[in-house]
Amino acid sequence: MLADLVHKTRTVRRFQEEQPLAPALLRGLIDLARLGGSARNGQVLKYMVITDAILRQQLFPMLGWAGYLPDWPGPVPGERPAAYVVCLLDARLLNGAESEAHCDLGIATQNLLLGAAEQGVYGCRIGAFAHGPVHRLLQLDNCFKVMLVVALGYPAETVVLEQLRLDGDIRYWHDGQGVHHVPKRTLEQILIESPVGL
Ligand SMILES: Cc1cc2nc3c(=O)[nH]c(=O)nc-3n(C[C@H](O)[C@H](O)[C@H](O)COP(=O)(O)O)c2cc1C
Repeated sequence: MLADLVHKTRTVRRFQEEQPLAPALLRGLIDLARLGGSARNGQVLKYMVITDAILRQQLFPMLGWAGYLPDWPGPVPGERPAAYVVCLLDARLLNGAESEAHCDLGIATQNLLLGAAEQGVYGCRIGAFAHGPVHRLLQLDNCFKVMLVVALGYPAETVVLEQLRLDGDIRYWHDGQGVHHVPKRTLEQILIESPVGL
C-alpha cells in the first residue's frame, strides 16, 4: 500500500557501506525522479550518480550530517553511503524562477526515495553541503548548480516516528540503543479548518 511505503520512507544516515547498489537499481531510481512533475514541464533537473569509492571518500567531508545531533559527526567508515545522487539544476533549461526548481526537486527526490525504500534502500537528502568544493570535485560545467546531494545505501540503523512532545520540540534524537527518533506533528496539528468546514 502506498501509505505503508510513505511511512517507511524515512531518512537514514547510517548504511551498510560495503553493500553496493546495483547500477540498474540506481538508474531505475533516476528514472523515477525523471517522471516527477515540474513547473512548466521544464524538467530542469539532472542527476549525477556517484558510486566510485575514492570519489565517495572525497565527497563525504563536504556534507553536513544531522544538524540536530551536534555530538554526532556523521556516519563512521563502514556506515557511510554506498552511493550518492547529486541533483543538479541545468541553468540552460531554466525558464522561470529558481524557486520552482526547488519544488521540482522535492517531487523528484521523493519519487526516488519512495522507489528506493520499496527495494530496501534508504537515503538522506543533504542540503547542507559545501557548494564550491562539491562543484569543483565533480568537475561540473558552470551551467550546473548543485541543488541537493542524496546519500543512499542499505540501512544500518532503525528509525522510528513519534508524536511531537507537548513542548513542541521538532528535533530528531538518538536514544541509548542508537535508534533514531523523528517527532512528527499530528494530523490535528496541521489541519487548518476551512471557513465552511470539511
Ligand atoms: C530539503 C531537505 C534538506 C535536508 N538536508 C539535510 C542535511 O543537510 N543533512 C541531514 O542530515 N539531513 C538533511 N535532511 C533530512 C531531514 O533532516 C529529515 O527529512 C527530517 O529529519 C525528517 O526525517 P524523515 O525524512 O525521516 O521524515 C534534509 C531534508 C530535506 C527535505
